[in-house]
Amino acid sequence: MPSCILAIDQGTTSSRAMIFGKEYEVLGVAQQEFAQHFPRSGWVEHDADEIWDGVVATCRQAMEKAGVTAADIAGIGITNQRETVVVWDRRTSRPIHKAIVWQDRRTADICDGLKKKGHEAEVTAKTGLLLDPYFSATKIAWILDHVDGARAAAEAGDLAFGTIDSFLMWRLTNGCVHATDATNAARTLLFDIHRGQWDEEMLALFQVPASLLPEVKDSAADFGDTMPDLLGGPVKILGVAGDQQAATIGQACFQPGMLKSTYGTGCFAVMNTGPQSVISRNRLLTTIAYQLDGKRTYALEGSIFVAGAAVQWLRDGLGIIEKAGETAALADAADDGQDVYLVPAFTGLGAPHWNAKARGALFGLTRGTGPKELARAALESVCYQTRDLLQAMQGDWRDAAGAETVLRVDGGMVASDWTMQFLADILNAPVDRPAVLETTALGAAYLAGYKAGFYPEPAKFAERWKLDRRFKPAMDDATRARKYMGWKTAVKATLLAAE
Ligand code: G3P
Repeated sequence: MPSCILAIDQGTTSSRAMIFGKEYEVLGVAQQEFAQHFPRSGWVEHDADEIWDGVVATCRQAMEKAGVTAADIAGIGITNQRETVVVWDRRTSRPIHKAIVWQDRRTADICDGLKKKGHEAEVTAKTGLLLDPYFSATKIAWILDHVDGARAAAEAGDLAFGTIDSFLMWRLTNGCVHATDATNAARTLLFDIHRGQWDEEMLALFQVPASLLPEVKDSAADFGDTMPDLLGGPVKILGVAGDQQAATIGQACFQPGMLKSTYGTGCFAVMNTGPQSVISRNRLLTTIAYQLDGKRTYALEGSIFVAGAAVQWLRDGLGIIEKAGETAALADAADDGQDVYLVPAFTGLGAPHWNAKARGALFGLTRGTGPKELARAALESVCYQTRDLLQAMQGDWRDAAGAETVLRVDGGMVASDWTMQFLADILNAPVDRPAVLETTALGAAYLAGYKAGFYPEPAKFAERWKLDRRFKPAMDDATRARKYMGWKTAVKATLLAAE
């Protein structure tokens, strides 16, 4: 009898494998960071082979720690950094170029050109997305146009495209399966989220041959078996979802109006809007939250590109901390008299500004500004950006359904009480931190377990969600207004500098 689920969480900076038991308890976990390549300003690449090696190694380590074999695993759930593009040779399974990461801005001019020609409205109507280099389509075309012979090979059907989930499945099944799920497909700019199909017009607009594309399935589906020698026996892949959608599931946001915000490399707020897609008036994305039993559930999403990455910058760029966990204590000791703002537009600004050319800026520096104030500015910037998103989202949702909503948070940064309190203060709204913070991996495990009949239906799973702590706003209105106004001014100046 299978006794567990293996979740693969392939994120932007690390790959993690987790084994979950019948009661969703964690039996084993392994994690590996991998190299980030920044070949030019605004470019971000990953080595897909290195990612593959790390995924296999962490799966094996997690299984060993949990003391389980392939026969004990009821299914594998995969969740992944979304939008990141891998193009590989179908015969050799080798990528023809480094993976172009979602943060990469190299196709900003192509997006601007398409915008100027007036294509954004049709793109949004079909895909729910905007013309921004964040999404996959222009990155695929870039690879086809910059690798010798790639476009001809693509036309001849020799190449395959996939987001990381597809690439991993291809390798896990030894090239037998070229598939993805609806949530990942919905991030490519090539998928009509209303019809649930790849769209001919979008393929033509972005010059992506249909022969490259994977088959699109439900998020809980039979995706095929892993090669026996990889994990010591074949295991079924039964769940796939983009990481933000998996976190939405892991947070049990199954009812319309429920909202989660995940603080990983970036920050992504996703609100379930039910079977109806809501078109944003505030430059948010309309996307697929999950597709189960052939039925699509939609979401509104606000995407900001830098959250944990700002803390990484404090560590790796400035060297003012050694570990991310030191940041909050440093911030707490900062001088209250200094209003220092960091606009972390290292890779442009996402929602609701969508400015690919903006770059990071610091404001309010004085002779007394030091590591403490910079640490505080980095953490605060994440909270200010969340408020920008929430305001946009609540506007859209009130227009659509007339209700307020509570924020469920997860991801590495939410372990910091200081940051969560500031978040509640600046939002002037409660922030709910769940007992289980590994919501992304849990969501992927749940999808696979649901398909395997190992876990119950969503409503029963939702009953398991437990609050760790609710952070309530405690800041006075005048301070909140002054601080947020300062942030708005800083963003305005950053956008002006990008013109
Ligand atoms: O859209 C990008 C997102 O999926 C990346 O998530 O957790 O790696 O920051 P994360």
